[in-house]
Amino acid sequence: MEIDVYNPDNYSAGIPHEQFAWLRGNAPVYWQQHPAGHGYWVLSKHADVLAVSRDSKTFSAEKGFVMVDDLPPDILEMARNQLLGMDPPKHGPLRRAVITRFTSRMLAELEPQVRRITREVMAQISSPQEVNFVESLAGDLPTAVICSMLEIPRDMWAQIRRWSDLQTSGSDPDLGGTPEEINQASVEMGTYGFQLATERKDQGGNDLISLLINQEVEGHQLSEMEFASLFIQLTVAGNETTRGLISSGMFELLKRPELYQRLKENPEQLPLAVEEMLRWTCPLHYFRRTATCDAEVRGQKIREGDRVVLLYSSANFDEEVFADPMKFDITRSPNPHMAFGYGIHLCLGANLARMEARVFFEEFFARFKGIEPCADPVFIRSNSIHGFKDMPVLLSPA
Ligand code: HEM
Repeated sequence: MEIDVYNPDNYSAGIPHEQFAWLRGNAPVYWQQHPAGHGYWVLSKHADVLAVSRDSKTFSAEKGFVMVDDLPPDILEMARNQLLGMDPPKHGPLRRAVITRFTSRMLAELEPQVRRITREVMAQISSPQEVNFVESLAGDLPTAVICSMLEIPRDMWAQIRRWSDLQTSGSDPDLGGTPEEINQASVEMGTYGFQLATERKDQGGNDLISLLINQEVEGHQLSEMEFASLFIQLTVAGNETTRGLISSGMFELLKRPELYQRLKENPEQLPLAVEEMLRWTCPLHYFRRTATCDAEVRGQKIREGDRVVLLYSSANFDEEVFADPMKFDITRSPNPHMAFGYGIHLCLGANLARMEARVFFEEFFARFKGIEPCADPVFIRSNSIHGFKDMPVLLSPA
């Protein structure tokens, strides 16, 4: 079988399940050539993805960041100021500061606001019409939620979404900008974040930006550069991913009308269903680490400096962990999927994304009496983002 984990065209029909199953069975630690000349190890088994995610000492996120395409040195320096690109001891104190805004109490307080935003987005569809579900419904919600957490003025939300979309869609010619435009977007975004931070310094505000800019983290205040990078990560991380979860999750329900009906009638079953949507749709295919010393995975020698990829979208279908993994089972429990990663970098917005998806479906079922697919959806061309760019549906408000 021809295996190419890198080529973004290999993902044009979604997760290449046949190739990934072959990898799990025949080459669970697989050497993938990268077009730039180097290569990287691909871990496709759940147990290996878990073990490497746990071992942040041997497998660094900071050394080479988390993507297989190496970053230019100046961008790498910026990326190392994101939580995702930090190793201990730098990572822990900052994570502990940010996580105070993502506790279950904070999220419960936020839920009515998320519901209000969801209703506003849905109210734009007031008569039966054909829309791209990704753009019209799932698209604006995650940006609106994080912008309201950061108390970003409303007239900037569309701009934040444009900047953010540019960061994640680089390999799709329909969505991405030129490398210059993408870099420009991150500079503009960072500058804007810093401007907000300056305005909120010592103003006594209670939003996430005020918290981060006014709080000392282990005896030092965040620098201009550190804050700008963190701001970018917070606004980008939950955008394409949550949009993907909601639209791909809805698509799976449309393929199985009996499940759609069951959840509409029993919305209390949504939390478990959302977990299965996460396993199945896995909005991020992978993240990367870099070995800090010689190591071994499943008997394969890994040399210091080697790039190692954690293939979440293969781990989620590992037959050794999930019974009948190719069955979309909304009652699956336990469901130890890896869609949010694992270990010290475990997605900080995981419970926020879960809540957004649950609220979205609850509100959707209440507001719309019908949704019908009009054509096959089209995947984003990417080896890292798993989601649709186009999902044409006919919506009929109740
Ligand atoms: C369905 C939606 C989402 C998915 C699939 C997702 C996935 C992930 C994954 C795989 C990681 C890395 C884990 C690792 O390296 O071990 C991560 C980290 C992170 N995510 Fe999410 N994410 C989602 C939504 C969000 C949201 C809504 C936010 C909001 C702020 C967010 C913020 C972050 C941050 C800050 C990190 C870095 C945490 C750290 O390094 O300590 N994510 N996410």
